Amino acid sequence: MMNTYFIKLDMSMDTSGVFTDPAALRCNGEYLRQQKYGVALLRKKSFSSVPNRSYVAADKDAERLIAQLPQRLLNIEMPKVWVLDMQAPAHEPEVMLAPHVDGVRVTAINIYSNTNGERTCFYTYAAGGEIQEVGSFVAKDGDIWLMDVSKPHAVELKPGKNRRVLTLSFITTPFDVVRKVLSCLPS
Ligand SMILES: [Fe+2]
Repeated sequence: MMNTYFIKLDMSMDTSGVFTDPAALRCNGEYLRQQKYGVALLRKKSFSSVPNRSYVAADKDAERLIAQLPQRLLNIEMPKVWVLDMQAPAHEPEVMLAPHVDGVRVTAINIYSNTNGERTCFYTYAAGGEIQEVGSFVAKDGDIWLMDVSKPHAVELKPGKNRRVLTLSFITTPFDVVRKVLSCLPS
């Protein structure tokens, strides 16, 4: 059955030389406030949550990355290029980027280069407040995953390990549209 939340893309991107140090990038936003999805999961399991900070990539890095995507995708929407940064404290055994939906984008292409075995989880959420995990993946270095970030999702972090991800953000183009365009790529 086709997964409707995330898919590993059969492609690679050259990220060599892309600058990702948050200290020298413009901060785009910091998301910590617990959404209802995180509150619902806290009823089922105990965890502490860390903020997700996003930063705007330098123009030249963004241009070089975007140029590697098919033109027919760029004709639909030119994605934004951000760096996500999550810092997991060493003393918390169960630490997560808590379940949430992204407020500012609907679809993301994540390009992973510094993974530590973190698990990205997706959930369904019922009106009564019941949350249910429906799937997950563990990305490896070099992987590129497409995700529907309008659906509740979370990341189980590794204590003491910081996570930094390059992410291409589609503000308005739904997951299915991006998936169909990219699935036509030659393998
Ligand atoms: Fe997210």
